[in-house]
Amino acid sequence: MEDKKLIFSAIQPTGTFTLGNYIGAVRNWAPLQNDYNCIYCVADMHAITVKQEPAKLRQNILNSYALLMACGIDPEKSILFIQSHAPTHAELNWILCCNTQYGELSRMTQFKDKSQKHPDDINAGLFTYPSLMAADILAYNADLVPVGVDQKQHLELSRNIAQRFNQRYGDFFTLPEPYIIDVGAKVMSLQDPTKKMSKSDENPNACILILDGKDTIVRKFKRAVTDSEAEVCFREGKDGINNLMTIYSVVTGKDFASIEAEFAGKGYGDFKLAVGEAVADHLEPVRTEFARLIADKAYLKKCYTEGAERAMRISTRTVAKVYHKVGFVDLK
Ligand code: TRP
Repeated sequence: MEDKKLIFSAIQPTGTFTLGNYIGAVRNWAPLQNDYNCIYCVADMHAITVKQEPAKLRQNILNSYALLMACGIDPEKSILFIQSHAPTHAELNWILCCNTQYGELSRMTQFKDKSQKHPDDINAGLFTYPSLMAADILAYNADLVPVGVDQKQHLELSRNIAQRFNQRYGDFFTLPEPYIIDVGAKVMSLQDPTKKMSKSDENPNACILILDGKDTIVRKFKRAVTDSEAEVCFREGKDGINNLMTIYSVVTGKDFASIEAEFAGKGYGDFKLAVGEAVADHLEPVRTEFARLIADKAYLKKCYTEGAERAMRISTRTVAKVYHKVGFVDLK
């Protein structure tokens, strides 16, 4: 690889991503391939920290892999692989777990939220989730990690773990920096715009899936909750409209001022329809490319096999050095 900074990011295999995942994360990954060396991964090992149905998980992992490619990640340019195909992540995770404090892990807000949501399954994997995430990043000595705001705390912990390891065993890990994507980093629910858009929302109209068809997308936007005014403008307190303006701005490239001008004097109905259509048109090529890729299992397999080999070439070296540093006996 050329001497560019290294980007690492991963996404959990939820089958089909939401518009929130797309705008906040995945959409930004493809352009980074021009300026950085990029390693992207489907975090299937993180996914099993909550209950999964095996057959469905397998399908979701493949779908997610194909979706990343459909969103423009080029498996030739970048390393694109499936986390469980690189056992080095689990190996490094153990070492990092032994350098992570109970107190640090118990302060993670995602752990607290998820334990509250699944009180019957607060497993050790859920607790040590951030140290596996640190292993993902540190196995490649990534410089930058594009994450949404919800993962910032985990990334900070990764830095702290790396720092502690470096102090104990001598400088080794690169301290990863967050690469925060500012515009539209957070897409809110269409039904309750004070909440984050989530696939697990019980109201299906709250969430756009990037493989939703045009009719579905337009219908969900038509039903989006707004406010009792009739003014398309970005202002504090107008959560619903602010969210729609953000989405519209991302998919059309227009700024808020020109969106306000475009819809001056028009009702919310027109605006919601325009947003729905713009989103559907924007996602159309992704849907088409996904359908093509998911039908070509042999090609997908070739891509993820090569991806795993390339990931292993780098991470095996890291693990060997780390094992040596902590005092294990070299095997080779
Ligand atoms: N925890 C991240 C999420 O749910 C996914 C993830 C796993 C990740 N490993 C990572 C993100 C490493 C960045 C870097 O979104």
